[in-house]
Amino acid sequence: MVAENRLHPDDLIAPLFVREGISEPQPILSLPGQFQHSRESLRTEVAELRALGIPAVILFGVPEHKDDEGSEAWNPDGIVQVALKDLRDDHGEDLALIADLCVDEYTSHGHCGVLDSRGEPDNDATLEIYEQVAVAQAEAGADIVAPSGMMDGQVFAIREALDDQGFDQTAIMAYAAKYATALYGPFRDAVDVTIAGGGNRRGYQQNVANAREAMEEIREDISEGADMVMVKPAMPYLDVIARARAEIDIPLAAYHVSGEYAMVHAAAERGWLDLEAVANEHILAVKRAGADVILTYFARMLAEGLQ
Ligand code: PBG
Repeated sequence: MVAENRLHPDDLIAPLFVREGISEPQPILSLPGQFQHSRESLRTEVAELRALGIPAVILFGVPEHKDDEGSEAWNPDGIVQVALKDLRDDHGEDLALIADLCVDEYTSHGHCGVLDSRGEPDNDATLEIYEQVAVAQAEAGADIVAPSGMMDGQVFAIREALDDQGFDQTAIMAYAAKYATALYGPFRDAVDVTIAGGGNRRGYQQNVANAREAMEEIREDISEGADMVMVKPAMPYLDVIARARAEIDIPLAAYHVSGEYAMVHAAAERGWLDLEAVANEHILAVKRAGADVILTYFARMLAEGLQ
C-alpha cells in the first residue's frame, strides 16, 4: 500500500541479439539465459515476451561479414533489417521496435565508426554512415532508432536524414550518457566484437568520474531532437539517473547492461545470492532513481514474476 514504486512489464525493454546464417539459437556463455537468435527463434522469443506484456524490444545484429565501414548495418537485407520486417509482420502496431544504431557489431575493427589515419573513429565521416543506417532501419520498420556510438552531432544528423526521407514519425532514443565502463564485457562476447589493437572507447564515451558532463551530453541530445534519452550502465549511475530525472521532462531510459546482469548470475550460480530477488531489487532501484523505462536482460524473468 505504501510502496512508492512498483515494477510493471510496461517498464521493461528486452535487448535481443539476432545472428545471420544460423538455424539454431546459440547460448551466450557470459549472459546465462540469453541467446544469439536465429531469425526464426527471435520471432518465437518476441512473441513470448509480448504475451508477457513487454512493450518493446531492442535489436542488435551479428552479421556474417564484417568490413571496415560496417556496411551490413545499412544493407536492406542485413540481419537487423530483415528481423525488423519479420517482427513488424508478426506484431503490426502492437509492439515497439527499437534498433540499436551503431556499427561496432559490423566493423572488422570493432569501433563505433569509420577510422581516421590514427585508428580512431572519424566523427564526421561516421555521421554520414549513421544517417544511412537510420534510414535503412526506419525503412525496415523500426519505430525508434537508438544511436549508441556517442559521436558528436549524431542525433541532429540522424533526425535530418530521417525527416528528409519522410520518416518524421520515427523516434530517436539517444544513448546520451553512455559511460566508458568495464561492464560491457559480456555484450562484446554476445556480438563477437573485439576492439582492434586492444583499444577502448574512452575517446568517445563518458568518463566514469563525471556526472555534470553527463548532464551536458543529455541536454545536447535533447536540443538536437532526441525524443528519449538514456543513461547507461544503470546501477553504478543512479545519481546520474536521479539528476537527469530532476532536470528533464522527456522519457528517460536506463540500460542495465550485460556486466550488471552477468555479475548477478555469477553470484547466484554459486549460491551466494538469490537471483530473482536481486534482479528485482536492481531494476526497482533503477526505476526509483527516476527511469521511466529500463533496458534489461532480466526483462523476461521479471515479467514472468509479475504475471
Ligand atoms: C554499441 C552498444 C554496446 C552496448 C549497447 N550498444 C557496446 C559498447 O558500446 O561497447 C552494450 C550493452 C551491454 O553491455 O549490455 N552498439
